[in-house]
Amino acid sequence: MALATLLAGCGGSQNTLHPHSHQARDIASLFWWMMTGAWVGLGLIVGMLLLSWVRRGRRGTPADPADPHPGQKLGWTVVLGLGVVLPLAVVTTLFVVSDVFVMQTTSAPAASSTRLTVHVIGHQWWWEFRYPGTTAVTANELHIPVGTPVNVVVGTADVIHSFWVPELNRKIDTIPGTKNRVLLYADKPGVYRGQCAEYCGLQHAHMALEVFADPPAKFRAWLANEEKDARAPTTALQRKGRSVFLQGPCSSCHTIRGTSAAGYLGPDLTHLASRTTLAADTIPNRKGYLGGWIMDSQHIKPGNEMPDINLTGPQLQAVLAYLESLK
Ligand code: CUA
Repeated sequence: MALATLLAGCGGSQNTLHPHSHQARDIASLFWWMMTGAWVGLGLIVGMLLLSWVRRGRRGTPADPADPHPGQKLGWTVVLGLGVVLPLAVVTTLFVVSDVFVMQTTSAPAASSTRLTVHVIGHQWWWEFRYPGTTAVTANELHIPVGTPVNVVVGTADVIHSFWVPELNRKIDTIPGTKNRVLLYADKPGVYRGQCAEYCGLQHAHMALEVFADPPAKFRAWLANEEKDARAPTTALQRKGRSVFLQGPCSSCHTIRGTSAAGYLGPDLTHLASRTTLAADTIPNRKGYLGGWIMDSQHIKPGNEMPDINLTGPQLQAVLAYLESLK
């Protein structure tokens, strides 16, 4: 049962030991070397304890009149060897491997050597993604081209968060008033889960993200769509939904590009329907969940910044029809 508990964290879509970039592989290798070393050290200590326990009470070798302090020499050898020389050697090796090699390979390279820059802004409790040089703004689902070094510049709108996609690289803190950088690289197409890794308040645990690493052509098509203004409503219900959205409280916090909604407290909803999840990877982006979120988001994610929106049934249906058309 204890083993089952220990292994419960292994696997899944957010696994440091399942690396998908050479940076993440270096981190995983370092972990395995340290883990192996720690077990060998533990084995040595436990072995010596057991040996002393087994041999307790036995007579030693008869005293040598020429040696007034029997055993002292061996004692010093053990203390110096295992207590000083070995730890120094282990710590020095770890320092060289982690600080000189792994820190270097996992650090962000010069921005000029990367082909794409993405700005990541942490919010309580969601992620904003901007693609400089384009008008694309999205939330909680970051798209990158596969096999391409991406320069990720992180900042925050409020408190300290930490951007971490374990299968791709190490974590990087978002610090108020400054920008940090990290390299993101995926060597295989896929969806990689990430998580805020710095306690940032009530809903820290529900501040997740998904990184979609797509083939370059698919990524370019996605970006081209994200750059566009929102689609115009095509049905009467969608048109009604848009006016409820624009005239009600929604537009004071959210932006829908191409309309008068230009709020910035909540996520940009221009292409909401192109995302697979809502509320920072907390619930799926399906009609029922979206309706529940709009009417009672505090029940789903208590403490989040979204107030309860008191819409009537028909108003809600219209807003849902409009938001679901925003591909
Ligand atoms: Cu943001 Cu923890």
